[in-house]
Amino acid sequence: MAAVLFCADPLGPPGRVDEHFKADATAVREAGATVAVIDHDALTAGDAARAVRRVPAGLGPAWYRGWMVTGAQYTALAAALTAKGCDLLTDPTAYRTAHELPGWYPAFTEVTPASAWLAHEPGHPLSGLDALAASLGTTSAIVKDYVKSRKHEWDTACFIPDVTDTEALHRVASTFVRLRGEDLAGGVVLRAFEDFVPPADGGGEARVWWLDGEPVAVTAHPDTPGHQPEPDLTAVHGPVSRLPARFITTDLVLRADGAWRVVEVGDGQVSDWPARTGFGPLAGALAAA
Ligand SMILES: Nc1ncnc2c1ncn2[C@@H]1O[C@H](COP(=O)(O)OP(=O)(O)O)[C@@H](O)[C@H]1O
Ligand SMILES: [Mg+2]
Repeated sequence: MAAVLFCADPLGPPGRVDEHFKADATAVREAGATVAVIDHDALTAGDAARAVRRVPAGLGPAWYRGWMVTGAQYTALAAALTAKGCDLLTDPTAYRTAHELPGWYPAFTEVTPASAWLAHEPGHPLSGLDALAASLGTTSAIVKDYVKSRKHEWDTACFIPDVTDTEALHRVASTFVRLRGEDLAGGVVLRAFEDFVPPADGGGEARVWWLDGEPVAVTAHPDTPGHQPEPDLTAVHGPVSRLPARFITTDLVLRADGAWRVVEVGDGQVSDWPARTGFGPLAGALAAA
């Protein structure tokens, strides 16, 4: 049986699971699996050995379930755990493949908006944007990094109505880069804009949780916990099975022409679970994996 490593509560007594993951941890214990904690602050500060201090030695196979970490942080976490006799069931290469768009995009091309990206580090001048936009072959686009967008600043830092409007392209992309600051993950991605149906008109976004190629749970998207569409998964099985990661999420949205599109893929270990939704089915599947 697999254990699950949650992020510890940074303020509570040592060893307590972060409030955000408390219900998930209870469900995992109820499924009969061991719960242990890792120190997310120590991990992001570069001290992986301290991060795993409270993981019992010889714990065996485990899932991580917590806040997002970078590919490098996950690699350090996996190494520190292996040194204690605990192996993550998603290896660092698989984590990166599921967590970052350039990793998952090639497997999902037929079910996700066309995308093009360039590597970029915070603090450096942004170059190559015009050629990137031209390579996309679209008029409207959205900008994000390898992991996150600034969707709540839609008009100023996300949506680009016309990528041939060079001034607007650069303004929106550089506002996005500035707002992401040091959190900018990997680089800048441009994605062809597609016409998605809003929740009020019968569309909306659903999060599908896949384990070993099977959809174990379909939930609302955490941003819209009260609205849960029932997406058609027929076209998604193939792409999911092509990814090396065992536990992933796909966010599906209904396009105006009736097609269900994968707007985003994530590593299931760091995908947020919607509030007030029982974690039981997923906990059981993870424990048994
Ligand atoms: N190509 C696109 N066309 C239209 N809307 C999009 C597109 N990509 C993203 N969106 C909208 O922006 C939101 C955020 O995009 P997403 O890739 O999920 O970034 P984040 O990681 O910030 O959630 C999506 O939920 C969707 O509503
Ligand atoms: Mg999203």
